Amino acid sequence: MNAETMKAIRIYKEGGPEVLVYEDVPRPTAGPGEVLLRIHVASINPADWRGQRGFPDIPEKFRPRVARPSIPGFDASGIVEAVGPGVSEFREGDAVFGMIRFPERASTYAEYTTAPVTQLARKPATIDHLQAAAIPMAGLTAWQELFDQANLQAGQTVLINGAAGGVGHFAVQLAKVRGARVIGVASGRHADFLRDLGVDQFIDYTTTPVEQAARDVDLLIDMVGGANSDRLLATLRRGGTLIPVNFNYYTPERVAEAGALVKGKRVQVNVGQLAEIARLVGEGRVCVAFETILPLAEARKAHEIAEAGHVRGKIVLRVIE
Ligand SMILES: NC(=O)c1ccc[n+]([C@@H]2O[C@H](COP(=O)([O-])OP(=O)(O)OC[C@H]3O[C@@H](n4cnc5c(N)ncnc54)[C@H](OP(=O)(O)O)[C@@H]3O)[C@@H](O)[C@H]2O)c1
Repeated sequence: MNAETMKAIRIYKEGGPEVLVYEDVPRPTAGPGEVLLRIHVASINPADWRGQRGFPDIPEKFRPRVARPSIPGFDASGIVEAVGPGVSEFREGDAVFGMIRFPERASTYAEYTTAPVTQLARKPATIDHLQAAAIPMAGLTAWQELFDQANLQAGQTVLINGAAGGVGHFAVQLAKVRGARVIGVASGRHADFLRDLGVDQFIDYTTTPVEQAARDVDLLIDMVGGANSDRLLATLRRGGTLIPVNFNYYTPERVAEAGALVKGKRVQVNVGQLAEIARLVGEGRVCVAFETILPLAEARKAHEIAEAGHVRGKIVLRVIE
């Protein structure tokens, strides 16, 4: 690598994980209001492998148009290498993490990226880059669903479908910190993991119909969706809140019959919330679980595991070994 280039993963054409190419690419420079970030760790979210496939699940006219070749990735933790014009918030050498330019332009499967200063939080010394990179998209989604959208209160019951995944494992722990009762739904191999994270009730969806094992929950967070999602409505109390991963999985008439309030929107960067989640991780009140930690060059393998759909916690890419 010289000063003008860097290693990165790029996609020339959408497809399976084989379209992820590890190569030398031009190194970016920070513009006004931006920093140049030396990435230590990037993390993987479903948005990354769905983007690698060209978002086939989104109707064509709503599909994001991505300029190729493109670098995937929105989450990163690293060190400020240089600051752009007008930047006073950070200086060279600061440790920062964030969710960068989501959803407009992915860029973090690389040794460097530029980032608007408004999208970065300081990494506390109490957490490492692996933990920090794992937090942004999954942690913010969990936080915003539980607290901004559903206004979860102590003593309420939340059922989390997909409790072992990136979002789910943060949601379980953040709900417990708030003092809620948590029902976690996952396959049986995650039972001990989720009990260790604090779930009050575990439901193995491979052996037990969820709608027969839970009733009268205040909040249903469904991070899975798919055909037959409506059956989960039976777990909600009347007037309870449903946050579906995608509204299209639910039938409006069934939702109305259940008297459910439907909430949910795309995750947004919020540096105050990032700092708060990082503080909880640093205090040991929220733990970050890793399905696997792979070098940047093995992004293909990381996406293969992610796409299989049974991730426990987070998959991260170590950019600096
Ligand atoms: N609204 C937003 O802005 C936003 C932001 C982030 C993510 N999301 C979406 O949220 C979803 C989850 O994201 P993530 O990062 O948590 O994904 P993830 O880390 O890949 O986790 C998915 C989890 O779903 C579980 N699962 C699969 N089939 C299941 C089933 N039938 N019943 C219950 N659990 C099942 C898997 O574990 P087991 O099957 O092994 O139990 C796995 O732990 C994705 O669709 C993602 O696109 C939305």
